[in-house]
Amino acid sequence: MPKNLQGRNFLKLLDFTSDEIRYLLDLSKEFKRLKLTRTPHRYLEGRNIVLLFEKTSTRTRCSFEVAGRDLGMGVTYLDPGSSQMGKKESIEDTARVLGRMYDGIEYRGFAQSIVEEIANNAGVPVWNGLTTDFHPTQMLADALTIEENFGHLKGLKVVFMGDAGNNVGNSLMVICAKMGMNFVACGPKEQMPKAELVEQCREIAKENGCTITLTEDVKEGTANADVIYTDIWVSMGEPDDIWEKRISLLEPYRVTKEVMANANENAIFLHCLPSFHDTNTTIGADIAKKFGVTEMEVADEVFESKQSKVFDEAENRMHTIKAVMYATLK
Ligand code: CP
Ligand code: NVA
Repeated sequence: MPKNLQGRNFLKLLDFTSDEIRYLLDLSKEFKRLKLTRTPHRYLEGRNIVLLFEKTSTRTRCSFEVAGRDLGMGVTYLDPGSSQMGKKESIEDTARVLGRMYDGIEYRGFAQSIVEEIANNAGVPVWNGLTTDFHPTQMLADALTIEENFGHLKGLKVVFMGDAGNNVGNSLMVICAKMGMNFVACGPKEQMPKAELVEQCREIAKENGCTITLTEDVKEGTANADVIYTDIWVSMGEPDDIWEKRISLLEPYRVTKEVMANANENAIFLHCLPSFHDTNTTIGADIAKKFGVTEMEVADEVFESKQSKVFDEAENRMHTIKAVMYATLK
């Protein structure tokens, strides 16, 4: 059923009902169909959006840019360090200025409180393109990819391996609880989502007939899994000197061929990307030199396998971000 999300912010999935998330997923499918059939959909002609990035990006930035242009909008990109925000101008003032010029604002950066503050002052819809706590637009792409592979979401077992308390792990737990998927955080105690968020998600999960489980046991955690998901071991904004500790803490949670074999036969592998699955990056090469580790959160053979749907997932970022912008701006 169509939902009216006009004027709403998209800051975290906890703010949305299961029905509203369902609506955004269905809308994403329609936008994907329009894009793949090359059917013009310049429904927001004449509007303008600004993309405010305090951290680097490939997928999120390009998704907002392409989706914005496909919808007929003007798009301004402000890269890390090129606006006055935070240095010469407060977040509040920046939001009030941008809200006078643009119809919508995307923000990627640090604390969740920053994107909340922008939203409280902008007077136009604000979209969270990743904070330290959450990555909600990523989740719509992940749910769409899961649904494309299994035909449904309810009742599936989704396992996040490794740094489960990061923005992606937190958000995956929320969308699973909202959409009736059984979520397992499989990692060391030190890297689990915060107890308060786990409790909140358990309450939501109860209403939707699913479960939230935290485990350190890889065999038990990944048994009968439908989706195995992981993310990098050190997120943007974390100090470089944390790598050594993270590698020793998270190596047992690398997604290997054995992990995939322990999951269901038709299980899929997902990763928000970017990924350290080989040494073809400067950081990957540096880690290999320093610590002798040539693949990190996922083995290269899993990343490159048929079970890996990571590039469908990356493409789906664009269709789902388009749906979020259209629903909140139309
Ligand atoms: N998954 C994701 O958000 O990728 P980028 O950091 O490239 O935007
Ligand atoms: N957890 C990662 C996600 C990147 C898309 C980070 O914050 O760097």
